[in-house]
This record gives sequence, structure tokens and C-alpha cells, in this order.
Amino acid sequence: MKKRVLFVCLGNICRSPSAEAIMKFQVKERGLEDSFYIDSAGISGFHSGDSADRRMMMYAARRGYVLDHVSRKFYPDADFEAFDLIIGMDDQNIRVLRQMANSREESQKIRKMTDFCRSFVGRDCVPDPYYGGESGFELVLDLLEDAVSGLLDELSVEK
Ligand code: 4NP
Repeated sequence: MKKRVLFVCLGNICRSPSAEAIMKFQVKERGLEDSFYIDSAGISGFHSGDSADRRMMMYAARRGYVLDHVSRKFYPDADFEAFDLIIGMDDQNIRVLRQMANSREESQKIRKMTDFCRSFVGRDCVPDPYYGGESGFELVLDLLEDAVSGLLDELSVEK
């Protein structure tokens, strides 16, 4: 059975689509395409139907990642059921996700992205890059690359 992983941020145009692309990239590198289903969603539906943020796309492309996700809202009824792991980018995401969970089982699916980081220890969130400059986007990618590799190692051990 495929492990189903959903990345969640606020707008689903910067952090979570990048997490999705980086996870797909690393899964492919490890030859694990048949073991995972990966998607992303936003707490807000503000950018639903939009492509990823152009700046985020550009910084991601420089590292070889293609952000082809179309933004969609997180739907608690469908998504808590459909996914095994629901990974938020910051404490605000986690708080809202926990509020939307309808059972202990649903709550237990919620994790925070930086909890999987191994190089970036002491970081407590993947910061929202939307209103910042270049360094914010690079930091997002650095944190996500670190966390995705930690996550994949953890999931491989679980198997
Ligand atoms: P994201 O970034 O949550 O990483 O996709 C944001 C994108 C848009 C907005 C906020 C954060 N916004 O306020 O429109």
C-alpha cells in the first residue's frame, strides 16, 4: 500500500508545493515511486486554482525542481481520510489542522515539517517567504530538502 503524504501551508503556492516537488524528486532518486502518493494543499483557499508563486518557482527551478502543482484548499472531510500523514509548515498551520481534526486518529496524522530536519536543528518552522526577499525562498528550499530526507529515512525505517 502506498504511503499517502499531504503537505500543508497557508496559500499552497510557496512552501507546500515546494515540499511536494522535493519529496517527489527524492522519492524518485531513491527509486520509491511505487511506495508514495504525494500532494499538497492550503489552509486558505485564497489562491485556489493558481500556479505556484513565480519567485518560488524560479528558485526551485534553479535547484532542478519543477513546481507544477495547482493550488487547492485543504478539505478536512476528504483529506484526513485520504492521507496517512498531514505535514504542516508552521505552528499556525498545525493549530488550524488540529482544530479541524475530528478524532484522535485524525489528529495523530498531523506532523510539523521541521520535526524531520536533521541539519537545521532548532528551527521551529518553515517560515512564510511570501512577503520577504530572496533569502527567504532559499531558506525554504534548504529546510525542505533537509526535512524531506529526514522524513524519507524515518518512513523507510518504519517499513
Ligand atoms: P505559502 O505562502 O503559505 O507558503 O503558500 C503564502 C502565500 C500567499 C499568502 C501567504 C503565504 N498570502 O497571504 O496570499
